[in-house]
Amino acid sequence: MSWASVDLKGKWYYVLYPRPVVVVSARYGDSESALAASWCMPVSLNPPLVAVSIAPTRYTYNLIINSGEFAINILDYKYYREVSYLGTVSGRSVSNKIEKAGLTRVQAKKIKAPVIGEATAVLECKLHSKLAAGDHVIIVGEVVEVYARKPLQNIPDIKSYKPLLQVAGLTYTTCKDETVKA
Ligand SMILES: Cc1cc2nc3c(=O)[nH]c(=O)nc-3n(C[C@H](O)[C@H](O)[C@H](O)COP(=O)(O)O)c2cc1C
Repeated sequence: MSWASVDLKGKWYYVLYPRPVVVVSARYGDSESALAASWCMPVSLNPPLVAVSIAPTRYTYNLIINSGEFAINILDYKYYREVSYLGTVSGRSVSNKIEKAGLTRVQAKKIKAPVIGEATAVLECKLHSKLAAGDHVIIVGEVVEVYARKPLQNIPDIKSYKPLLQVAGLTYTTCKDETVKA
């Protein structure tokens, strides 16, 4: 089968999908917000660093830069509606965005940011560095605390864990257990 060219002015990045979706939460003073982010990846083992690419137009971006802290929350597939709310409504225009999404706001352990009570896992981060990348900024966080519920306590237990994966826009999928070991 032959390749077809993909338009670089369009959604070329969908060749890198489906992607896990995380929720990035932050607080600065009395302001807080949380957004959906699928452009997220671990980038260093020692020190433990994670990167998320966030557009500087996002309200959460300003909270991260001003506070120097943020949390990455991993939510199950069943929360796709709640995550879509966080990914389409700005904390600039609503207060208590996490509760308005239908999720529970819980205080983080080592940082001032809120975390999501329903999360399967949480990574609490201190801002390590940032790198301008076109219309986004790569935010690198040093992970200072991680906690997880059962399916993510060791290697992911695909039999009981249904990760939230973005196919495109607000269309999502999850994993079916097709595990193989090389
Ligand atoms: C599934 C999904 C994934 C998203 N991924 C990203 C992302 O990786 N980076 C980003 O800057 N925005 C991403 N967005 C958009 C933000 O989540 C969205 O603009 C959000 O409303 C910003 O909220 P805030 O203004 O309260 O920070 C995504 C949206 C959705 C629905």
